[in-house]
Amino acid sequence: MPETNLQTRVLSPSPDDLARAAGLLRGGGLVAFPTETVYGLGADARSDAAVAGIYRAKGRPAFNPLIVHVPDLDAARACARFGDDALRLAAAFWPGPLTLVLPVREGSGLSPLVRAGHGTVGIRAPGHPVAQSLLRAFGGPVAAPSANPSGRISPTTADHVLAGLGGRVEAVVDGGPCAVGLESTIVGFVPGPVLLRPGGVPTEAIAACLGAPLRGEGAVNDLTPDAPGQLTSHYAPVARMRLNAAGKAPGEALLGFGPVKGADFNLSASGDLTEAAANLFVGLHRLDRRGAKAIAVSPIPEAGLGRAINDRLRRAAAPP
Ligand code: TXA
Ligand code: MG
Repeated sequence: MPETNLQTRVLSPSPDDLARAAGLLRGGGLVAFPTETVYGLGADARSDAAVAGIYRAKGRPAFNPLIVHVPDLDAARACARFGDDALRLAAAFWPGPLTLVLPVREGSGLSPLVRAGHGTVGIRAPGHPVAQSLLRAFGGPVAAPSANPSGRISPTTADHVLAGLGGRVEAVVDGGPCAVGLESTIVGFVPGPVLLRPGGVPTEAIAACLGAPLRGEGAVNDLTPDAPGQLTSHYAPVARMRLNAAGKAPGEALLGFGPVKGADFNLSASGDLTEAAANLFVGLHRLDRRGAKAIAVSPIPEAGLGRAINDRLRRAAAPP
């Protein structure tokens, strides 16, 4: 990763600071900001130089496209072409933790770097009030991957962002911890809807909205050789991970779920998946910072947000 020596400014979500953040974006700078899922690393999606800065700061492979953030459906339609299913999903889940991968609209003005050579663009209207205010203050589309070095654990606090990218980005807007805690669900259209990444909107809710099962459930990697972000090793702590562990072995830290004994961090002692999702990256960051060499993880049910949690855990456990 390149050396940089920027003084990363920590901004508050006040109107004055958000105006400053929007000004930094207008100048081609990188500004990390909270969304309801995870913190994003934002740049002006219309500027090649700004978008290139995201790839540089994260050490992100150039073939892995970025999600474009907009305040609402109207702004999204200026960027991408929506079919009926996409409109139905946007109406049901936007603003919120859902990304739609759609054909890019001609004349959208988006930098081609955002798409990494694809004819489609990933687009999302986040629900977090600070993200909404920043997008409106900026007045244009903002490209934003998760604000972590490529391959590492996603950030759910401003502190996580500073630990991973401090000195590489102009500013981070501190909006407190992210409520959902793991990334958006990604749906593509080929042309029927397919699940590209499980996330903050449970796939059951998407299937119910569409009135049909969602293709790709449980088979993300096989179905989407073309979704470049689905690199196997991702969200990785430094520690080795052992999933579906009944308990901890000597030398292991335990990332618990449910009423387990001896957890070093419990995602949800009551076994609540929403709480566990919100705590997942917090727990991984914490055990990682404590220098755990190996992390055992309690079993998590494969339903609702549990699918997204297990997806992230499997990637965190995959060999680099
Ligand atoms: O919740 C989220 O989605 C967060 C917040 C910041 O919005 N963002 C996020 O971005 O998770 P990132 O870059 O870490 O993950 C984006 C994923 C990648 O797997 C990427 O490959 C996929 O979206 N993606 C983006 N555009 C795509 C496209 N045109 N076709 C296929 N996959 C795409
Ligand atoms: Mg990411």
